[in-house]
Amino acid sequence: MTVAAFQPLTLTIDVHLDAADLRAALARDVRSGLGGAPKSLPPTWFYDEEGSKLFEEITRLPEYYPTRAERVLLERHAGDVASLTRSDTLVELGAGACEKTRVLLDALSAVGTLRRYVPFDVSADFLEASATALTRQYEGLGVHAVVGDFHRHLGKIPGGGGRLIAFLGGTIGNLVPSQRRRFFSELRAIMAPSDHLLLGSDLVKDVGTILAAYDDPKGVTGRFNRNVLQVIDRELDADFVLEHFAHVVRWDPLEQWIEMRLRSDRDQVVHVGALGLTVPFGKGEELLTEISAKFTPPGIRSELARAGFVLDRQWGADPGDFLLTLAHPASRR
Ligand code: SAH
Ligand code: TRP
Repeated sequence: MTVAAFQPLTLTIDVHLDAADLRAALARDVRSGLGGAPKSLPPTWFYDEEGSKLFEEITRLPEYYPTRAERVLLERHAGDVASLTRSDTLVELGAGACEKTRVLLDALSAVGTLRRYVPFDVSADFLEASATALTRQYEGLGVHAVVGDFHRHLGKIPGGGGRLIAFLGGTIGNLVPSQRRRFFSELRAIMAPSDHLLLGSDLVKDVGTILAAYDDPKGVTGRFNRNVLQVIDRELDADFVLEHFAHVVRWDPLEQWIEMRLRSDRDQVVHVGALGLTVPFGKGEELLTEISAKFTPPGIRSELARAGFVLDRQWGADPGDFLLTLAHPASRR
């Protein structure tokens, strides 16, 4: 018998979205998104096992600067974050591979306050694997993983103590402005006065650099984008042929966001078996799969202020690649 068998359980997983819930939500999104004009799909569905792996590959592409820029910022300022917040719990929304997380965990360990890590993600299998690996690496750390949708389950995040709620990777930019407003105010509503928010957001910069990050020559980004069709084929018995859709990236200068689209290379009809749905695509017709908004430091500040947050610090990398913002709830009157 091993000693480990007698050690207290340090990994807990709460599931607020099981396979049936996910399938029902996907069915709803596919029905409304492919039934409408122009056609669109929400970005949550990229991240099955295969999609999560492809995203990790994206983060290692030379063109995809956001991950590296954010990591540099975290390495430079995690010590400040830890000493300013002295949090005992790190909550991470859209945690994914929990990669950059380690920088924050190390800094909170170094100030001696860290007790608990709460990774929160919609992608259950991937979250479980990442959380398990982390539990092994950080002895004594309580890992409480939460499988949920941050548009619906923020209230399920375990409370208590002083929590640092990290939302990294620029994922905030994947929400349209009205979703962001709702997200920030729901987050504000579940936060205690002693909690902090650490937000990572990508910054507006020269358009060529941004476009290259979302359209690499090896085609990894294209495969990632098309993977959403594979998810629908598998989960809802659809017959998308991935090769018949091209990866298209466009910068919208008014909205200041990147749009990821899939363009039908021919007239074709797709069937979604599980929904009894027939979806015609004209040659050249585009399906919007994701936006990735780029920000300015004052823009982030004012969105947070509107939701009831007070800014602690903002840190930007030279030459202004990426932004980390630390904030806390404004006190209620
Ligand atoms: N934070 C990581 C991963 C970013 S990718 C990084 O910086 O590299 C975005 C992550 O958000 C994915 O792991 C995806 O599964 C998760 N995600 C996307 N939509 C979500 C939603 N609605 N609720 C919870 N997690 C979501
Ligand atoms: N959150 C990532 C981003 O906005 C997601 C992402 C990276 C992405 N590359 C992509 C989404 C390509 C769709 C296609 O940077």
